[in-house]
Amino acid sequence: MPTLTATKRPTKRSAGRSAPELIFGDLWEYDPAPETADPKLKPRYDLFIGGKFVAPASGKYFDSINPANETKLAEIALANAADVDAAYAAAQKAFTTTWGKLPGKERAKYIYRLARLLQDRAREFAVAETMDGGKPIKESRDFDVPMAAAHFFYHAGWADKLDYVAPGRKVAPLGVVGQIIPWNFPLLMLAWKLAPALAMGNTIVIKPAETTSVTALKFAEIIQDAGLPPGTVNIVTGFGDTGAAVMNHPTAVKVAFTGSTEVGKIIMRSLAGTDKNMTMELGGKAANIVFDDAPLDQAVEGIVNGIFFNQGHVCCAGSRLLVHEPVAAAVLAKLKTRIRTLRVGDPLDKNTDIGAINSKEQLTRIEKLVASGVKEGAEMFQPACKLPSKGYYFRPTVFSGVSMSHRIAREEIFGPVLSVLTFRTLDEAVEKANNTAYGLSAGVWTDKGSRILKLSTELKAGVVWANTYNKFDPTSPFGGYKESGFGREGGRQGLLDYCKLV
Ligand code: NAI
Ligand code: MG
Repeated sequence: MPTLTATKRPTKRSAGRSAPELIFGDLWEYDPAPETADPKLKPRYDLFIGGKFVAPASGKYFDSINPANETKLAEIALANAADVDAAYAAAQKAFTTTWGKLPGKERAKYIYRLARLLQDRAREFAVAETMDGGKPIKESRDFDVPMAAAHFFYHAGWADKLDYVAPGRKVAPLGVVGQIIPWNFPLLMLAWKLAPALAMGNTIVIKPAETTSVTALKFAEIIQDAGLPPGTVNIVTGFGDTGAAVMNHPTAVKVAFTGSTEVGKIIMRSLAGTDKNMTMELGGKAANIVFDDAPLDQAVEGIVNGIFFNQGHVCCAGSRLLVHEPVAAAVLAKLKTRIRTLRVGDPLDKNTDIGAINSKEQLTRIEKLVASGVKEGAEMFQPACKLPSKGYYFRPTVFSGVSMSHRIAREEIFGPVLSVLTFRTLDEAVEKANNTAYGLSAGVWTDKGSRILKLSTELKAGVVWANTYNKFDPTSPFGGYKESGFGREGGRQGLLDYCKLV
């Protein structure tokens, strides 16, 4: 039973009851604690091309919605092929005349400046990120924004040490790169894409996701304040057709995409036969494997963090729990107790654990897959928490009695939905964990170091976390096997994907 802290108060309903029979979440409420920092949003955002905000050639804009309450947050410019051309022309010019000519130690100064300016405006960016995407403020404040700054700091440190990226070889930038990022970590994915490309001396055309463009455009203000040569980074906004124009543009010597496996395949098909370099970070269906000797309470925290973090909008989410049969009942019981205490609601509230689903389309996708789980005979558990009447929300959901043939065990749900399967032997765990089209990440919970080492080689996943989950660091390369994509982001390996060896 968790202990009470001073910030929790009994409701009238629960007053007078003795502590042991209380079920948390059902009976104890927090006072609302909304974050109040000003996100400093403009009503309308233009494209960022050649160091300036410019109106789109079409004159058209689309709305970015706050998914927590379905209100309009800002208008975003709709870029067409002419705008994408202009962005590539600006990037090409910066590559041949300014940024591409700077020595690494000069580039480093600019990248450090980006990191520091982001830190200066951290709270403002966290609030904007939460309002545009729906993630809890405690995550955008404590994870997304600091981690984005850390990526710029780390890569700034590399910019004057590039002789050590590929020992014995010299490296050179590729040229102009085209990048597309998704809506689950809008600012952080922007940092993952921009920082290594800039450190290497490339120039960039990047497109954020249509539901979450705001922090990228706020970051354009930081790019201006840092004094980067105009055209070094160009930000175009729009939907899939704008994205296709960014990926297919003849000026792009390399393209980097993070998003769905489906769109990744479309891009790979359309670029097959060209000489563009490509990296793809696509979907996942990770197994979080718990053995009977694991510290179960810690494992339950790791499972909860693995799947409910950011509403499960995480490509490496631990969406399949594989639990050793002897402890399966105990783990499931602990998990249900813990899930009852999760707070679902206003993402700007500092106590919220699970915020809003990013869009109505994504909510519908989650609902459909969850309905398929019920239909195929898995047993569903959801806590009886109240959801806000406006906005897109989904209760944390656990399916037990899941078999490998169920859609919820195979398809990426990208929502707060966990499928629980059991295993008897280590070999069975490995077989089930690897029995997926994906291979981005996995988790292992056990007391035995030898088991961790064995599993980390046998699991076909780019990252294997041991006795923890969803831990990130700019020094660690991240990327997938199989349909989860190819190429790495972060660390020395990530830099290698943005250079040529000379
Ligand atoms: P998506 O793959 O359509 O969107 C990702 C990005 O690609 C966005 O910026 C989008 O505008 C762009 N895009 C869309 N069509 C394109 C095209 N033909 N050419 C170039 N760019 C294009 O993902 P969506 O539809 O938003 O989400 C669908 C599912 O994809 C989710 O339910 C989830 O399972 C998965 N997903 C995985 C992500 C990951 O990090 N691996 C991120 C986002 C979604
Ligand atoms: Mg939005």
